[in-house]
Amino acid sequence: INATDTPYHYTDKLTAEKLIKPRDKFSHKGTFGHALLMAGSYGKMGAAVLSGKACLRSGVGLLTMHIPVCGYDIIQISLPEAMAVTDQDEKHLSALTDLGSYSAIGIGPGLGKEPVTVNVVEKLLDFVNANSGKAKLIIDADALNIISENRDLLNKLPENTVLTPHPKEFQRLAGDSKDEFERLQSGIDFAKKYKVIICLKGANTAVILANGEVHFNSTGNPGMATGGTGDVLTGIVTSLLAQKYEPAEAAILAVYQHGLAGDRAAEVKGQSALIASDLVDSLGW
Ligand code: APR
Ligand code: MG
Repeated sequence: INATDTPYHYTDKLTAEKLIKPRDKFSHKGTFGHALLMAGSYGKMGAAVLSGKACLRSGVGLLTMHIPVCGYDIIQISLPEAMAVTDQDEKHLSALTDLGSYSAIGIGPGLGKEPVTVNVVEKLLDFVNANSGKAKLIIDADALNIISENRDLLNKLPENTVLTPHPKEFQRLAGDSKDEFERLQSGIDFAKKYKVIICLKGANTAVILANGEVHFNSTGNPGMATGGTGDVLTGIVTSLLAQKYEPAEAAILAVYQHGLAGDRAAEVKGQSALIASDLVDSLGW
């Protein structure tokens, strides 16, 4: 069988490197987009920091962080390259900020599931639908859990939105699967039904496109099974979307570079010592 006729693909080094867009000599920061990350809540600002740093390290032109009031100093100090917009709420995101100027929006890391935040997710989906094509979207972590618990939101997912669930988050979205094969099929059905891109995370993360195509990733290691590594992936995807990578390419390349960063970090530190910040430090292409 000709591999190109099957819906199954493998993202090796060559495949990934072909996706990278070289930076033009005469480019400026406007060329590389303006990303917005909506992340963090009281006690989980680290997730916002990790996703923000990963976004910056993946080539974005400008980054704004929408965070609750309690995260202001944290973000300004730990991410000097980013701009910070604070919510009116002390501890959680509770309202949309002005979304006019962003080329991509990422939501989820460290968000929590407060009722006010549910409202933010819904308003965000409404905004992106009303301004179709302007800002690309990636949804992760508690923003996915919010959608799982408010199922009318599933029908509001804009086409080609990137979703990055770990197995538990995917189960909440799509229901039980008895093994990994059934989960993959369920992911394919889900991606086709809602016309979205699903990164089913784990060893050999499967990036499932809206047409049912599956791209298995070749990089990564079990050292990455530690809190915060998922937030790093969200930042990378947001960055690539902001730089006008097509959502499918952004998802495939981000998953590959994320795993590669994990492999580089594990080479230096060993798998046990690896923490999510090491991934950020090992990014680069
Ligand atoms: N091999 C390769 N990669 C792995 C492996 C493995 N054995 N285990 C995990 N990874 C990678 C996954 O592919 C994924 O990219 O590490 C990342 C883990 O992401 P998450 O499971 O989302 O973990 P993270 O977000 O960092 O966890 C913090 O936030 O999303 C919530 O529910 C989540 O409680 C968790 C918290
Ligand atoms: Mg996660």
